[in-house]
Amino acid sequence: MNPETLRLGVNIDHVATIRNARGGSHPDPVRAAHLAILAGADGITVHLREDRRHIRDRDIERLKSELFAPINLEMAATDEMVAIALRIRPNAACIVPERREERTTEGGLKLLGVEPRLRRMVGGLADAGIRVSLFVEADRKTLDAAAEVGAAAVELHTGEYCHAVLDDSGARADAELARLQEAAAHASGLGLEVHAGHGLDFTSVGPVAAIPQIVELNIGHFLIGEAVFVGLDEAIGRMRSLMDQARAGQPA
Ligand code: PXP
Repeated sequence: MNPETLRLGVNIDHVATIRNARGGSHPDPVRAAHLAILAGADGITVHLREDRRHIRDRDIERLKSELFAPINLEMAATDEMVAIALRIRPNAACIVPERREERTTEGGLKLLGVEPRLRRMVGGLADAGIRVSLFVEADRKTLDAAAEVGAAAVELHTGEYCHAVLDDSGARADAELARLQEAAAHASGLGLEVHAGHGLDFTSVGPVAAIPQIVELNIGHFLIGEAVFVGLDEAIGRMRSLMDQARAGQPA
């Protein structure tokens, strides 16, 4: 993939959520992954949670053996997840905070005070050829710590910005966007590759996609929800073109 262009990672967790609601094998997240790639995704993102509420170990094994596109494994900073990543060897891993009771990943990873443990974890994954990013808030000290523990990339949490856009709070959205812009510039200056994601939809994606240092967006829930109405192909195709237009400086 060309690092100059903005990549789209499609998170297919919620295809598995629907499958698991009935306990069978339909809809198959691996089939969704193939369709997502055909529709313009550059890679597939999956979050293997400790409670396996959506994606399961077998899904990742199948993705690894059946899909000819990069896989980004979102994982908690636990020994269990590191062992799985080292066995399956996704192209990339994004270390995220995880609490059992949360509905989705709330907030970024806390790095301060746990740097030595993270440094070992990041180093072990990187030695296995896995590109490691850390899912973080747009906060300078946290970004400095991410660089310091040896991460190749950071993924900036866009949740607060997306909430502000949904709440129709122009001033708050502007402030959150400015925070993301400043963080992207700071992270890039530290030599980190910059990704972003969480909560993005057709309305919020443009201004984030226009941030020049960001090279990858990971988007899931909205796309899978929208696919119910228009199909995965059209939902992803529209997201892709909104990203590309914003990147090219064209109005949506
Ligand atoms: N990036 C990370 C690190 C995430 O944890 C998630 C949610 O699993 C996403 C991106 C995608 O967020 P959403 O499903 O809200 O688009």
